Amino acid sequence: MKTIFVTGGAGYIGTHTTVQLLEAGYEVIILDNLSNSRQEAIQRIEILTGKTVTLYVGDIRDQELLDEIFSTHSIHAVVHFAGLKAVGESVSQPLHYYDNNVAGTLVLLRMMDQYGIKRIVFSSSATVYGIPTTSPVDESFPLSATNPYGRTKLMIEEMLRDLYTADPSWSIAILRYFNPIGAHDSGTIGEDPFDVPNNLMPYITQVAAGRLKELQVFGDDYPTHDGTGVRDYIHVVDLALGHLKALEYVGNHVGVEAFNLGTGKGYSVLDLLQTFQQESGQTIPYQITGKRDGDVAAIFADPQKSKAILGWEVRHDIEAMCRDAWRWQSNNPKGYSE
Ligand code: NAD
Ligand code: WQD
Repeated sequence: MKTIFVTGGAGYIGTHTTVQLLEAGYEVIILDNLSNSRQEAIQRIEILTGKTVTLYVGDIRDQELLDEIFSTHSIHAVVHFAGLKAVGESVSQPLHYYDNNVAGTLVLLRMMDQYGIKRIVFSSSATVYGIPTTSPVDESFPLSATNPYGRTKLMIEEMLRDLYTADPSWSIAILRYFNPIGAHDSGTIGEDPFDVPNNLMPYITQVAAGRLKELQVFGDDYPTHDGTGVRDYIHVVDLALGHLKALEYVGNHVGVEAFNLGTGKGYSVLDLLQTFQQESGQTIPYQITGKRDGDVAAIFADPQKSKAILGWEVRHDIEAMCRDAWRWQSNNPKGYSE
């Protein structure tokens, strides 16, 4: 049984990926400082899968702790989710983001190198494509960033490419996620932001659950089919399954490769809102407000490389994403804290 070390495994994408890893027969060790997640998520994973997870509550920047973990367990590969992800907060607290995300990854990579663990799957983001003027975007699209959060992802990608150049025995998969939404269809794990959500889907579900009054739609005069922003929403379980494919890939190849994880389809804010209302039976009050700084009109993925090389394809449509997001939120109106 192969052991996977999952940093940030208590978070939204980490919990869904851990479930898929356990179900595929991997052993999972999680390191999470619970800065944006709750320990209860781990108990939910264990109930859902009937399997146990080894959890270390701690920080990826804690070299002594990594030393303890790497010397105790025989680790096949690392899936590295741990990071801060709020764009606005990264603008007001850039040093915190560079320290947590970039310096944290540096400590992790140094310790992996020391222990000869040279397989890693890294959570990057479509944000590294900056503000593209056309979509779909493939992995060869020029990289740029418009905020400190995006720059942390770009810097880590560059670190990983330099690492492979210096030592070609590394196996590195960089996964560029588009917009993960939805939840496991059990309704027992899902997205549970600590603060008022920044992202569209958790905002919609919290309005539906009565926790927030109304949605603000950021702009309706973009050059898109209905004037609202277009994104590539991807079911979090499809995203999780992409990590299993990437792990197989790093198990069989050396190199550094970036892969888009998106569906290739774009939906507007109003498309998503309408589909959510239809699938949930809830009415979501909304008003159109000004554009949000830094937002791009439209971006969606070209997922061909992931299909061709990883053999990965999405299974869930936008309706399933909305149903599953609502099942999670309606079963857990206050998230894990209940
Ligand atoms: P999340 O906040 O739910 O999960 C991240 C987890 O990492 C949290 O449990 C948090 O407590 C933990 N963590 C943060 N810093 C840590 C540290 N220094 N040491 C240990 N644990 C730490 O976020 P998510 O949505 O699951 O995102 C996972 C990864 O995917 C992140 O790196 C994020 O930047 C990236 N990503 C997310 C999205 C998205 O829209 N959700 C899109 C693209 C990329
Ligand atoms: C989607 C659409 C908004 C909220 C962000 C990060 C990106 C990645 C994913 C991590 C846009 C509109 C939103 C609201 C709205 N994260 N919107 N009202 O901006 O594509 O990407 O999360 O890597 O880096 O930037 O996602 O969900 O915030 O917005 O109208 O209350 O919904 O303008 O068109 P985004 P989002």
